[in-house]
Amino acid sequence: MTEAGVGIRIEGLSKRYGQGDTAVLALKEVNMQVAPGEVVGLIGPSGSGKSTLLKCLGAVTHPSAGRMLLGGQTIYHDGWKVRDLRALRRDKIGFVFQAPYLIPFLNVTDNVALPAMLAALPDAQARARALELLAALDVQHRAGAMPAQLSGGEQQRVAIARGLINRPPVILADEPTAPLDSTRALAVISILNSMARQYQTAIIVVTHDEKIIPTFRRIYHIRDGVTHEEAGEGREMNLR
Ligand SMILES: Nc1ncnc2c1ncn2[C@@H]1O[C@H](COP(=O)(O)OP(=O)(O)OP(=O)(O)O)[C@@H](O)[C@H]1O
Ligand SMILES: [Mg+2]
Repeated sequence: MTEAGVGIRIEGLSKRYGQGDTAVLALKEVNMQVAPGEVVGLIGPSGSGKSTLLKCLGAVTHPSAGRMLLGGQTIYHDGWKVRDLRALRRDKIGFVFQAPYLIPFLNVTDNVALPAMLAALPDAQARARALELLAALDVQHRAGAMPAQLSGGEQQRVAIARGLINRPPVILADEPTAPLDSTRALAVISILNSMARQYQTAIIVVTHDEKIIPTFRRIYHIRDGVTHEEAGEGREMNLR
C-alpha cells in the first residue's frame, strides 16, 4: 500500500510505563487505520489504554515500539521519532476536547483564527479562513461574540472550527459530546462527518456516549491495551 494520502496508520504500537516489576504495558501491539474522510469510534473501559493511545496519536508522548504514520508522514518507528513534535502537533493534528477551552478574552473569530496565526498565516487570511469554517459549522452569526455569550453547542462548534483551521489531516476528539443533549451531540457528530468528507480529514472519536455510538461505521474497542476492530451500525444522521 502507498503511504500517500494515508490518514492515520499505526502498526504494532506498544507503550510501556516504568521499568522492571512495576512496569505497565498500556498498549500491546496496537494496529489501527483511519482513512482520510473517515470518522471512527474508540471505546474501552477505564484503564484500557484510550488516553495513552490518544497521547501517542497526538504526539504528546511517544510509544515504546511500533510505527505510526499521520497524513503519509512517519512519526515514530521503533524508537525513532520525528524531531519537531511541536510543529507536527500544530500542523497535522486538530484536537477537540470535552470542554471547548475557548480563550475568554478573544472573540469567536479570533479564537478560531489563533492556531493559524501561530502557524504564521497573515492575520487577514487566518480570519478569512476562520469565517469560512464558522459558516460551514453554521455559527457565522456569532463570529463577533465572546465565548461566554454562546450556548454549549455553539461553543463546541467553535472549538471544532478551531481544530480544523490548520487543515490537519488528523483530528482527535476526546469525549466531544459528553456535555451535550442528544440533539446537539448528534449534530456535532454530523458536523465531524461532513468536515471529514469535505477536508479529507481522518477523525478518531473517543467516547462513552451511547447517543453517538450507533453513528460510527467502524469502531475500535480497546481492552487491556489490545484493540479489536468491529463494524458499527453507521446509522445516518439527517440533522443537517
Ligand atoms: N504515567 C503513567 N505511569 C504509569 N502507568 C500509567 C501512566 N498512565 C497510565 N498508566 C496506566 O496505563 C494503563 C492505561 O491507562 P490510560 O490512562 O491510557 O487508560 P484510559 O483507557 O484512558 O482510562 P480512563 O477511561 O480511566 O481515562 C492503566 O493501567 C494506567 O494505570
Ligand atoms: Mg483516559
